[in-house]
Amino acid sequence: MTPAGSLLVAHDLRKAYGPTNALDGAGFSIHPGEVVAVMGPSGSGKSTLLHCLAGIATPDSGSITYGGREMAAMNESQRSALRRSEFGFVFQFGQLVPELTCIENVALPLRLNGVRRKEAEGTALAWMERLEVDLLAGKRPGEVSGGEGQRVAVARSLVTSPRVLFADEPTGALDSLNGERVMELLTDAARSTNAAVVLVTHETRVAAYSDREIHVRDGKSQTMERVI
Ligand SMILES: Nc1ncnc2c1ncn2[C@@H]1O[C@H](COP(=O)(O)OP(=O)(O)OP(=O)(O)O)[C@@H](O)[C@H]1O
Ligand SMILES: [Mg+2]
Repeated sequence: MTPAGSLLVAHDLRKAYGPTNALDGAGFSIHPGEVVAVMGPSGSGKSTLLHCLAGIATPDSGSITYGGREMAAMNESQRSALRRSEFGFVFQFGQLVPELTCIENVALPLRLNGVRRKEAEGTALAWMERLEVDLLAGKRPGEVSGGEGQRVAVARSLVTSPRVLFADEPTGALDSLNGERVMELLTDAARSTNAAVVLVTHETRVAAYSDREIHVRDGKSQTMERVI
């Protein structure tokens, strides 16, 4: 059943919130290094799908395997270890810790994994250079622009060299120019480390950075052929 070489695979996912079927038989698969855009109208189930794939939410039924391991068979501490070391996350807003400087924000996932401050900040700075925000290292999130803040957040999501980067509307709060800049740097950085990217967006311009699109409608998914 599992497509050869897939890293993360989901079959027939169902999840209801009261009377709402947020997921109603959705499927998904992604290879290492692949960028897959999850598209669809508001309320169609995109974020719910991402949360299930990332082990943040639990589907009512269906299967999700990561590297051949069934997620439902893991306990919460195993899933949380997976999220800390194998997955990276970027959301639309409000994700940087306002009291910390930008470099402390980027270094945070490493610090939480027990890496010493000096080493963590060294790695953080290298990622900030890559995302072209190294000059903001000592500033706090409140002192940088929206686009800069998102690039800091992307640096933070990649600092642990995750195998899968989950991005839910990462450019949703940005104008198109800043959005494209974030997408370019995000996809380049992910491709250079062979990380897979699950990119939720409803903008065609953002989805254009992906290798493949999955469309979600009423909790059901469909793989779309890219017409170039
Ligand atoms: N925690 C929740 N409690 C109740 N209903 C929820 C919850 N989360 C999502 N839903 C419902 O499930 C459906 C799918 O929501 P979801 O957030 O996955 O949509 P989405 O495609 O990400 O939409 P958007 O583009 O607006 O972010 C919606 O009808 C939503 O109202
Ligand atoms: Mg959403």
